[in-house]
Amino acid sequence: MRIKEVVETSSTNDEIKRYLEGGEDIILSARRQTGGKGTKGRSFLSEEGGVYLSALFFYDNLPAARAFEIMAHAAVAVCRTAVSFGLEPEIKWPNDVLVRGKKLAGILIENELRGEKIRASIIGIGLNVQNDVSALGGIATSLSAETGKKISVEAARDELIKNLCHKDSFSEYLSFVRFLGRDVLVTEGARQYTAVPLRILPDGRLEIRENGAVRALSSAEISLKL
Ligand code: BTN
Repeated sequence: MRIKEVVETSSTNDEIKRYLEGGEDIILSARRQTGGKGTKGRSFLSEEGGVYLSALFFYDNLPAARAFEIMAHAAVAVCRTAVSFGLEPEIKWPNDVLVRGKKLAGILIENELRGEKIRASIIGIGLNVQNDVSALGGIATSLSAETGKKISVEAARDELIKNLCHKDSFSEYLSFVRFLGRDVLVTEGARQYTAVPLRILPDGRLEIRENGAVRALSSAEISLKL
């Protein structure tokens, strides 16, 4: 795997797009980002002390319907990294990684489609290591805050890269999911309601029970604290 490191860029997800033509898998990491991107058009705080990286992976024959596998792989790689530092992470569907209820990492995936297939995907991960996350108002945490030790950014990055290059399975993803069976708050567009998440289907949809009716959600935001 080719690994490239830069000190600063606006967004590793954007910078790595210049390698889309090449067709070779590559990982790009930056010490800081000036325009870090989050999901839903949000920005992502990317000050020195965190790991900010994007992996560009090419696929020969991956149907777009299996896009969830890429998300699951990224979340498992972050979880394995947290475990290697002695933590007990959990996945909040679909791919937020939390430790003791606080967000340890953000994942932004951008896929390049060719017809019904995913030709390439950009897996962007921002992992809080020893950066100050207090500006995020208590919703985020870091490896150092959780372990009580100053974790080196390089050690965290190397571990994350190793885990991204490793194969994993849907059952490993499920092993980090702990919120099933208890009430959560679901935000689906403008609608907010309480439901019980029952299981995650292999295609990534979340099956929920709301007022006795069972259905599967393709996308929604869930909040674990009611
Ligand atoms: C989120 O939680 O909203 C997703 C955040 C994703 C942040 C990472 S940092 C590396 C890569 N480059 C970006 O601009 N975003 C992703």
